[in-house]
Amino acid sequence: MHRSGVLAIVLSVFLGTLGSAFGAVVTITQDGPGVLNSTIYFTAQLYDDEGHKQNSDTIHKFTWADNAMPQHTYTEQGEFSKSLWNVTYSSPTYSPGEYEIEVRVKKWVGFFFWDIASSRFKINVTALLNGEMELVQNQTVLGGNYVSDRQEVVHRIRLSDPDRRLLGTNDTTTTAFWFVGCQYYGMTQDLSFAYNYTKDDLDQVRMIRALVVAGRESDANSTLDDNFADAIGDDNATSIVDESSTPPDPDKNCEDFPIVPKDPNKYYGYFKRRIIPTAPVHVDNIQGQTWLKTGEMLYLNVTCSGSSPFYHCVRFFSGEYNVTGNETCTQARSTPNCRIAFSRLMNKGTKYTVLFIIGNRVSRTVTPVGVTRYSEKHHPQLSVVIVPISCSAVAIVLIIFGVAYYIQSRNRYEIEVADFDFSRNSDMEYKTFKERLREAFSSAFSGVREDEYSDEGPSSGLFGGGTSNVWSPTRKYGSMQ
Ligand SMILES: *[C@@H]1O[C@H](CO)[C@@H](O)[C@H](O)[C@H]1NC(C)=O
Ligand SMILES: *[C@@H]1O[C@H](CO)[C@@H](O)[C@H](O)[C@H]1NC(C)=O
Ligand SMILES: *[C@@H]1O[C@H](CO)[C@@H](O)[C@H](O)[C@H]1NC(C)=O
Ligand SMILES: *[C@@H]1O[C@H](CO)[C@@H](O)[C@H](O)[C@H]1NC(C)=O
Ligand SMILES: *[C@@H]1O[C@H](CO)[C@@H](O)[C@H](O)[C@H]1NC(C)=O
Ligand SMILES: *[C@@H]1O[C@H](CO)[C@@H](O)[C@H](O)[C@H]1NC(C)=O
Ligand SMILES: *[C@@H]1O[C@H](CO)[C@@H](O)[C@H](O)[C@H]1NC(C)=O
Ligand SMILES: *[C@@H]1O[C@H](CO)[C@@H](O)[C@H](O)[C@H]1NC(C)=O
Ligand SMILES: *[C@@H]1O[C@H](CO)[C@@H](O)[C@H](O)[C@H]1NC(C)=O
Ligand SMILES: *[C@@H]1O[C@H](CO)[C@@H](O)[C@H](O)[C@H]1NC(C)=O
Ligand SMILES: *[C@@H]1O[C@H](CO)[C@@H](O)[C@H](O)[C@H]1NC(C)=O
Repeated sequence: MHRSGVLAIVLSVFLGTLGSAFGAVVTITQDGPGVLNSTIYFTAQLYDDEGHKQNSDTIHKFTWADNAMPQHTYTEQGEFSKSLWNVTYSSPTYSPGEYEIEVRVKKWVGFFFWDIASSRFKINVTALLNGEMELVQNQTVLGGNYVSDRQEVVHRIRLSDPDRRLLGTNDTTTTAFWFVGCQYYGMTQDLSFAYNYTKDDLDQVRMIRALVVAGRESDANSTLDDNFADAIGDDNATSIVDESSTPPDPDKNCEDFPIVPKDPNKYYGYFKRRIIPTAPVHVDNIQGQTWLKTGEMLYLNVTCSGSSPFYHCVRFFSGEYNVTGNETCTQARSTPNCRIAFSRLMNKGTKYTVLFIIGNRVSRTVTPVGVTRYSEKHHPQLSVVIVPISCSAVAIVLIIFGVAYYIQSRNRYEIEVADFDFSRNSDMEYKTFKERLREAFSSAFSGVREDEYSDEGPSSGLFGGGTSNVWSPTRKYGSMQ
C-alpha cells in the first residue's frame, strides 16, 4: 500500500514533467461562417512548441464539443496529430447565433491518456447566407471599390464554403435579384451579374445590391415580387421593385432594405457593395524634341486624361527597350492632374528609351518614347556639306585659270619677280603647282575639319568624360578608397 503510493507520486511527477515537456499546442481552423442547415468543417492540428506539426506516430485522442443545446460531440483516437470534425446546425432545432467549439487533445503515455492541449473557437451561425460580392473585370478580381468605366464589370457573389456546399446540392435553385442604385436590373441564376457603367456613373459612388433566394426546385417558380415580399417581410415591397419602370426617387431610402426570412424552407442572402466607376488613364499627347544634338537637354511634356489621382514615374533606358507592359514604379509620384514635365541631359550613347509609367486607381499605362542623340559628325547638315564643296570647286577653277595665266606670261613675271622681296612669301606665283594645289585644298577643307573638332572636342570632354562620374558615383567613390 505504502509502496504503491510512492509509485503513484513518482509516476505523476514523471508524467507531469513529461506533460510540460510536450509543450503541445492545438489550433482550430474552420471554413465558416455558415447559414443554418449548412455544415461547417473544423480541423484541429497539433503542433509542438516550436510550431512544427507533431509527428503522428503517437496515439492521440481528440475530443470535440460545442456549447449548443443539444450538444454536438465527437471523439476519435489514433496515430495522428490532426482531427477533422463537421457540425450542422439545422434550422428549427438551433437558432442563429454564436457557438463555441472546443477541442481537447490527450496523448497516450503507456497507462492512460494525458491532457496535452486544448483550444476553443467561436463561430457564427447565421440566418442569412454568408459571402461577399466580388468585382471581376478583365478576368481579374478587383481589390477595391474602383472599377474601370471602359469595361464590363461582373458582380459575383462568392458564398462561404458551408453555404456553397449547402446550395450546391442538386435540387436547389438559387436566384439573385440585382439592383444598381435604386434600379432593379433583373435576376440571374448563377449569382453573377454583368454591367457596363457609363459616363454618368463616372467618379460617383454607386451602390450595387443583390438579393439571393434559394430553395428547392419545386419552389423555384416564385417570382421576384413573391420573393422580395417574402424577404423583406413587407407586402408593400413590390413598390420598390416597380421602380424599374420609373426613375429612381431620391427621397426613397433604397440604400438598404431589411431582410427577414419569411419562408422557412428558403435561404436568403443580401449582399451589397459600393462601386466607384473610374476612367482609366489615357495618354493624350507627348510634346518635345526627341532628335537631339549632343549637349542638348531633353524636354518632354506628357499630358493624359482619366480619373485622378494619378501616380507616375519615368524610367530611362539606354538603347531600344521593348515594353512588356508589366513595368512598375518603385517610387511613384502622385499628382492630381495628369501633366508630366520631364527633362534630362543626355549622357553617352545615341539611342535612349524614356518610359512613362502612369497609373491611377484602375489602370496603368506604359508609354515608351525613343530619343536619339546625334553629333553633327554623324549627321552633318546640308549647308555644311555644300559650302566646302562649292569652295573647292571655285578654288580649282581659280587654280586652273591661274596656272594657265602663269604659263602664258612666265617670262615677264620671272623678270619682275627678281625685284620683289622673297620674305613676304605671300604671292601665289612663287609656289609650285603642287604646293598651290595642296594649299588650295587644305584651305577648302579646313573649315569642315574645324567644325568637327569644335563640336566634338568640348562635347567629348564635357559630356563623355566629365559627366560620366555623375552617372556612376560608385565608381568615383571606389577610386577614392
Ligand atoms: C462530415 O461528416 C460526415 C458525416 O459524419 C462524414 O461522412 C464526412 O466525412 C465528414 N467530413 C469531414 C471533412 O470530416
Ligand atoms: C458573430 O457576429 C457578431 C454580430 O455580427 C459579431 O459581433 C461577432 O464578432 C461574430 N463572431 C464571429 C466569431 O465571427
Ligand atoms: C485584359 O487583360 C489582358 C491580359 O491579362 C491584357 O492583355 C489586356 O490589355 C487587358 N485589357 C484591358 C482593357 O485592360
Ligand atoms: C444530381 O442529379 C443527377 C441527375 O439527376 C445525379 O446523377 C447526381 O448524382 C446528382 N448529384 C448530387 C450531388 O445529388
Ligand atoms: C458591355 O459592353 C461590352 C462591349 O462594349 C459588350 O460586349 C457587353 O455585352 C456589354 N455588357 C452588358 C452587360 O451590357
Ligand atoms: C412554373 O413556371 C412555368 C413557366 O413560367 C409555368 O408554366 C408553370 O406552371 C409554373 N409552375 C408552377 C408550379 O407554378
Ligand atoms: C403599404 O403602404 C401603405 C402606404 O405606403 C400603407 O398604408 C399600408 O398599410 C402598407 N401595407 C402593408 C401591408 O404594410
Ligand atoms: C433546414 O433543414 C430542416 C430539416 O433538416 C428543414 O426542415 C428546413 O426547412 C431547412 N431550412 C431551410 C431554410 O431550408
Ligand atoms: C512643356 O510645358 C511647359 C509649361 O506648360 C512649356 O513651357 C514648355 O515649353 C513645354 N515643353 C515642350 C517641349 O513642349
Ligand atoms: C525588341 O523587339 C524586336 C521585335 O520583336 C526585336 O527585334 C528586338 O531585338 C527587341 N529589342 C530588344 C532590346 O529586346
Ligand atoms: C513581365 O512579364 C514577363 C512575361 O510576360 C516576365 O517574363 C517578366 O518576368 C515580368 N517582369 C516583371 C517585373 O514582373
